[in-house]
Amino acid sequence: MRSLKNILVTGGAGFIGSNFIRYTFNRTDFDGGVVNMDCLTYAGNPENLADIESEHSGTRYFFEHGNITDRDAVRSVMKRYEIDTVVHFAAESHVDRSIEGPKNFISTNIIGTFTLLEAVREIWKEREDVLFHHISTDEVYGSLGDTGKFCEHTPYDPRSPYSASKASSDHLVMAYYHTYGVPVTISNCSNNYGPYQFPEKLIPLIILNIKEEKALPVYGDGRNVRDWLHVDDHNSAVWMIINKGVEGETYNIGGENEWENIRLVRVICEKAAAIMGRDRDCFKELITFVKDRPGHDLRYAIDCSKIKQELGWVQEYDFDTGLDRTIEWYMENGAWIDRVRSGEYRAWIEKNYISR
Ligand code: NAD
Ligand code: DAU
Repeated sequence: MRSLKNILVTGGAGFIGSNFIRYTFNRTDFDGGVVNMDCLTYAGNPENLADIESEHSGTRYFFEHGNITDRDAVRSVMKRYEIDTVVHFAAESHVDRSIEGPKNFISTNIIGTFTLLEAVREIWKEREDVLFHHISTDEVYGSLGDTGKFCEHTPYDPRSPYSASKASSDHLVMAYYHTYGVPVTISNCSNNYGPYQFPEKLIPLIILNIKEEKALPVYGDGRNVRDWLHVDDHNSAVWMIINKGVEGETYNIGGENEWENIRLVRVICEKAAAIMGRDRDCFKELITFVKDRPGHDLRYAIDCSKIKQELGWVQEYDFDTGLDRTIEWYMENGAWIDRVRSGEYRAWIEKNYISR
C-alpha cells in the first residue's frame, strides 16, 4: 500500500473528477490534502464541489485555476503543495466536439499530459514516492463487432480525434515509464454515468430532454453498444490503483453492462415516466433517429478481470438502481441544470474564479 498525503487532481471540476474528489473526502482512511487544478472550460464547474469547498477549502481542499499545458503553473502547484500523487482527469472529453474541432483535444489531451509528465519527471528526481495515474478510455482500442471484449493487451486502434488524442497520451505515459522510469499507472474505462455529468453526453441529455419533453436524438439506427459503469465504481477502481496498483501497469475498468443505445433510451423513458407518475410509454414517442456520428464506433465492451483478480475491485452499483438514482438526481437538481443549460454558470465562474 502506498501512503498518500497530497493528491493533485487535474480536471477536478468536471464530471468524473468532481465525483472523485467527493469520493476521497468520503473515505475515512484518507486525511490528506486534495488540490484541484482546472482551467474551467465549458465542462468545468466548481459548483459541482460547493459542499467540499465550504467544508474543506483552505484546510484540506485547494482549488487552483490553471491550465495543464502551462509548464510553470503545473510545476509551481506540484512543488508548493508537495504533491505525491497525480490523478490526471483533465481532458477534452466529448467525441462529437472532437469531430467538430480537434485542436483543443490535441492541446489538452496530448500537450497537457506531456507537460504534467515533464513536471513529474523533474519532481521524481527529488522524491521517489511520486505516482502519476493517467485516466484514459476504452475508446483507444477502437470498435468491436458483435463479440469479444477489450483487454489490456488489445492493440490500440483509435478512430476519432478524441480517442486518437487519448491514445497518444497513453503512449506518452508509458514512454515516460520505460524511458525515464517515472512511476505511472493507467486505467482505461468504459462509459460513466451518474450525477454532475455535462448534459451533452447521452444519459443526462436524454433525461433532461424528457423533462422538457424535447426530441430524444438517437444516432443512426441506435444499435451501437456501450458498457455503462457508475462513476463511483470508476472512482473506487482509481482509488485502488493509486493505493496498490503496480507501477507501469494498465488496468481496464468496465461495467460488464452492455446496452444498445436504443434499448437504453427506451428504458430511461420508462423509468422517467415512473418517477414522474406518467404513462409508461408516453416519452418514447419523443425518440428521433438522427444522422449518425461520423466514424461511430459500433461496440465497446471491457474485460476487467485483471483489476478484479489483482486488486480485488468489484462494481457496487447495479445498473437498475444506479440509473434510477441518476434520473432522480437530474430531476431533483433543477437549479444546477438550469444554470448549466442556460450558460448562466459561465458568468458566475468568470466572476468568482477566473477574474478574482
Ligand atoms: P469532463 O469534460 O466532464 O471534465 C473535464 C475537466 O477537465 C473539466 O473540468 C475541464 O474544465 C478540465 N479541463 C479541460 N481542459 C483543461 C486544461 N487544459 N487544463 C486544466 N483543466 C482542463 O470530462 P469527464 O467526463 O469527467 O472525463 C474525465 C476523464 O475521464 C477524461 O480524461 C476522459 O477522457 C476520461 N474518461 C471519461 C469517461 C466518461 O464516460 N465520461 C470514460 C472513460 C474515461
Ligand atoms: O467509452 C468511454 C467514453 O465514453 C469516454 O472516453 C468519453 O469521454 C465519453 O464521452 C463517452 O464517449 P461516447 O461517445 O460513448 O459517449 P456519448 O455519451 O457521447 O455517446 C454514447 C452513445 O450514444 C454513443 O454511441 C453515441 C450515442 N449518442 C450520443 C448522443 C450525445 C446518441 O445516440 N445521441 C446523442 O445525442
